[in-house]
Order: sequence, then C-alpha cells, then structure tokens
Amino acid sequence: MSIAPTIDHPSEWAPHSWQQRVALQQPLYEDGAELARATAQLATLPPLVTSWEVLALKKALGEAQEGKRFLLQGGDCAESFADCTSPIISNRLKVLLQMSLVMVHGLKKPVLRVGRFAGQYAKPRSTDTETRDGVTLPSFRGDLVNGQEFTPAARRADPQRLIQAHAHSALTMNFVRALVDGGFADLHHPEYWDLAWVEHSPLAAEYRRMVAAIGDSLRFMETLAGPIAGFTRVDFFTSHEALLLHYEEALTRKVPRHHGWFNLSTHFPWIGMRTAALDGAHVEYFRGIRNPVAVKVGPSVTPDVLLPLIEALNPEDEPGRLTLIHRMGNAQIGSVLPRLLEAVKREGRRVLWVADPMHGNTEATSNGYKTRRFDNIRGELDQAFDIHAAAGTRLGGVHLELTGEDVTECMGGARDLSETDLDRAYKSMVDPRLNYEQSLELAMLIVRKSVAARTA
Ligand code: PEP
Ligand code: CO
Repeated sequence: MSIAPTIDHPSEWAPHSWQQRVALQQPLYEDGAELARATAQLATLPPLVTSWEVLALKKALGEAQEGKRFLLQGGDCAESFADCTSPIISNRLKVLLQMSLVMVHGLKKPVLRVGRFAGQYAKPRSTDTETRDGVTLPSFRGDLVNGQEFTPAARRADPQRLIQAHAHSALTMNFVRALVDGGFADLHHPEYWDLAWVEHSPLAAEYRRMVAAIGDSLRFMETLAGPIAGFTRVDFFTSHEALLLHYEEALTRKVPRHHGWFNLSTHFPWIGMRTAALDGAHVEYFRGIRNPVAVKVGPSVTPDVLLPLIEALNPEDEPGRLTLIHRMGNAQIGSVLPRLLEAVKREGRRVLWVADPMHGNTEATSNGYKTRRFDNIRGELDQAFDIHAAAGTRLGGVHLELTGEDVTECMGGARDLSETDLDRAYKSMVDPRLNYEQSLELAMLIVRKSVAARTA
C-alpha cells in the first residue's frame, strides 16, 4: 500500500520554497536587509563538503540499512565558537576513534563515523525568551544565532554569525581532514588517540587488550597480503541539525557533475524533533536536497505521523536516503517504539533505524543541573536492541552526545559520578554530554548487547 502525503507541498521545490511554510525555531532578525546581505555573502563562499562525499555517505548508509555497517554518530549537543580549538577538536576525534575501534572489533563489521561537528551551532529552545530577575531577553539559540551572555547586545540575533559559523565549521573541517589524512586515524597507531587524563581509567585494561588484539590481526593480515592501501585509514563524515534555514539555504548548491541540489554545509543534516511537522518549513526544505537525511522521532510520534513523513522525504524509497533516529526515553521506549517499527516494516519502507538514548533521558537535579543518568542511557539502548530484535527490524546505529573532555555532566558510569560531582566540571552550553570514560564504556556495552541480541 502506498501512502499519500496528507498535504500538498509546493510542486516546484527550490532552496527557498520553505519560506512559504511555517518555520519553527527561527530567530527574529530585526533588520531584514542586514540578514539579506549576510546570506548573499554566505551564498558566494565555498561549500564545506562536496557532492562526491555526500553521495559516498549515502551509499554507506544504504549498506548500514542492510546490516553491513554500523553507524556511530556523536559529538557535542552544541558546538561553540570558543571551543573551536586544537585540543577540543582532536580529543573529540580521539574518543570517536576509540569507540569505533571497540565497535569494529566487537561487531565485526565496518563502523561508519559521523561527527556532530563542523556546523552544530544552532539549538531549538523550549521558549523564545528567558527571564532573569525581572529582565526578559531572547533565548540563546546557539552561536549561529546569538551569544549566551545574558545581555541585550549578546542575545540579539546577529546575521554576521552566519558567516562566522561557516568560518568556524571550515576551520574545524580543515583540522579534522588534515589529522585524518596525515595519519592520525591510522589503525597502526591507536596510541595517537590516547587521552592523557584517562591512564588510570577502570576501563583502560579492557581497551588495551582490544587494541593489542587488533594490532595482532593487522600484522597477521599484512604478513599475508602486504600493506593494504586504504584499508587501515578511517573516514569521518559530518552532520548537524539543519535548524536555521536561512543558513542551510545559502549553502544549498548545484554542482557541475551531479543533478539536483545538495546541502554542502554538511554531509548529513537532520531534522530535530521539534521541527519535524509534515507541513512545516523544515520538511519542505529537506525533501528537495539530495543528501542523506535524518529525522529525530520522539515519543509523541504515531504511525499516522511517521508514514507520511517517510513518503515526503523518501518517495522513491532510495537506499541510504532516510535515517530515523528514535529518542524515546528509557521509560517510554517499550510502549511507543514497537508500533512504529511494525508500521514501517508493514509498509516495506527502507529506513536506517538509529537510537539516540540521550534526549529522552534528560532531567534536572536538585542542585539545578541538567543531567542524564548513565543507567537510563544504557537502559534505553538495551531496550532498543531487544525491541528491534523482537520486531524483526535492525538497529543500525547510535546517536550520542559526548566530548573528549573530562567533564562531569552525566551521572553514573564506571566512576559512578553523583549529583555532587556535577559541580566539578559541568561545561556544556546546552545538554549534558557523556565524558570520555562514559563514552568508551557505552561503546563496550553496545558491543556486548548487540552480540547478545544477535545470538539470542
Ligand atoms: C539534539 O540533538 O541536540 C536535540 C535537540 O535533539 P531532539 O531534536 O531529538 O530533541
Ligand atoms: Co542535545
């Protein structure tokens, strides 16, 4: 049975056709002419990624849909311009590399590495304004839009930030590409990815055993076959929530050798939970670009909502095109996910299912921190594997908020961080992230669970 979309999209899609729809979560720019000047300038600047890379990722995501790869997507909730520094970028890369090594080894399949970086600068907010001591100002919407400081000047939506965000994304991309091309990601040298502060981690011994085993296999293979070009190097792709549509539009381009339009600000944009309405501006924008795209799926989504969304975003059922990232919460996933899986399976639609065990598990502590409990994150992931196994569908990846820094933002994990530990190193601008140890621990748990779910 095919599903007819319940709304009429403008038949002529264009990079700006989203402007005919209701666009949620956009800032109010005071001066339209100033915004137009900034977007015109942005539209002349070089893109951040190429259509070749975008199509290569789409193909790889298609393979993940078939179970031939596993997606590891991770990074900050919100990047900041101030964090565009060498140690922060390379530490984040180190964590993702270590996690992927653990996963390749345990899952026995290639891991597709996608960073939440080089463009993750815009955030949806639950309210448009924030009030402190009787003063009301616009909410902070990420460095792409305004500043975090609670002053009228900082909170003003500033179009120049569109240019600055492009520049910071380019700086980040450039450094990541140079590190990866220069040998930093070479599997022969996993010691390059060691993080100084973690030497005494309770997980270090298990990780080192794994690294030694991989080193042995690599040497064995190369003794038989000689050095294998391209085999020991790893690739990185980028992703961000394509929230601020003026920015995305200005980086939507045609290229000489491929037909259609590409969003060349990132390889893999996603639609956040709050902006995924079928008749909204974000779905209108996303339906016309050729990138692989993802949608966050929250607990209020029913099959009636999801199936038309799939039809709007991937009418041709193209492999690799559509990823659904479910983020239900540990308490709710069991009651809401099964019927979505069943409906998509019944309709025979091709999607990549990915679990985000972070965003449904955010809570506030009594001392005022936004946190997440490691046990809830782990619990949601465990359930996700079981629910997919029971439905006969496949969990093909995970989407995590993490950092390579020694932060204390999520509670629990190998060192059992408690509410009082949050005071020590809480640095996140928005949501609490897994620190290095918690990330590595989760990677190990994913492997154990995935292997157990397969053999059950
Ligand atoms: C996020 O990924 O930071 C986010 C806001 O997620 P969601 O749209 O799932 O709430
Ligand atoms: Co977040």
